[in-house]
Amino acid sequence: MKYKTTIIGAGNVGASIAQLIAFHGMGDVILLDIEGNMAKGKALDIAEACPIWNSASQVSGTSDFSDIKNSNIVIITAGIARKPGMSRDDLLNVNADIVRNAAVNIAKYCPDSIVIVVTNPMDVMTQLVFSVTGFTSNKVLGMGGILDSSRFKTFIAMELKVSPSIVNTMVLGGHGDQMLPLPRFTTVGGIPLTELMSADKINELIKRTASGGAEIVKLLEKGSAFYAPAASVFQMIKAIIFDEKLLIPAACYLNGEYGFKGVYSGVPVIIGASGAERIIEIDLNENEKKDFANSVTSVRESVSKLNL
Ligand code: NAI
Ligand code: 2OP
Repeated sequence: MKYKTTIIGAGNVGASIAQLIAFHGMGDVILLDIEGNMAKGKALDIAEACPIWNSASQVSGTSDFSDIKNSNIVIITAGIARKPGMSRDDLLNVNADIVRNAAVNIAKYCPDSIVIVVTNPMDVMTQLVFSVTGFTSNKVLGMGGILDSSRFKTFIAMELKVSPSIVNTMVLGGHGDQMLPLPRFTTVGGIPLTELMSADKINELIKRTASGGAEIVKLLEKGSAFYAPAASVFQMIKAIIFDEKLLIPAACYLNGEYGFKGVYSGVPVIIGASGAERIIEIDLNENEKKDFANSVTSVRESVSKLNL
């Protein structure tokens, strides 16, 4: 079967994901954006690279939701970034309207799809999509934890001057200031991180990870990170298409896990053909539990403003 992935929002993150899918020949891609011709233009540009990549992916662009019919996977990256004079709540409401509209159309045209939400505030938007689509929770998940973990891995590898590929770690909780990097569950080539680095240095890298998105925004001066976010989404898509049973952190609906019900937060989960297949519960210590609870509370506060 040839997978069909729709990406709603053909901006920096959306177009980069489309390019990765096409580059790897992992099925067909539809880029949808309110700026219809922009989506068509980027899709055609990516399609024209497929012969060079020996890829049979078909890539198309549209602004018409009926074109996304029967997609197997739908990624939501549509939204706007905070503009001068806008509060976080203003952004929340604007992006909620965009994401709500996307969710209505996903339910209508792709009722069997698995949805991955990227738009910020991601955990809240994921809960919105879950609520609007009425999909089972395994089919609605959010990307944040892979990116945050990858940032933590990168900073550890830079500090220790080792390959990032041998760093294993996990960042849980919401994708925001309250995220929860877990040095206790971090190893480098199988050796616990705590054996290789001082507590002060670990704390410094934890802080850098939590503000990793802001660091890129400051450097770019315009827009936010998109290469690592796109790679993170691609890893999730690949795990679904190849039923990899990959254990990664993602925003999942908690139904009692970690002591919370009815809220999305970043937890370790097995990703396979059915989406978020099984949440893994790890034993958090008292401090970690407190930090996780703070992170969940902040997501809940924003969700309550949306009256879901
Ligand atoms: P971008 O501004 O480059 O792209 C957003 C696209 O959404 C634009 O092309 C815009 O035309 C489109 N759009 C706006 N309203 C729309 C609508 N009603 N229907 C369809 N398309 C619509 O932004 P970028 O850099 O691609 O980021 C996208 C979102 O992802 C932002 O909310 C950003 O904060 C978030 N993000 C989340 C990450 C995560 O880890 N969860 C990582 C990186 C970005
Ligand atoms: C990031 O962490 C903007 O959420 C995005 O880079």
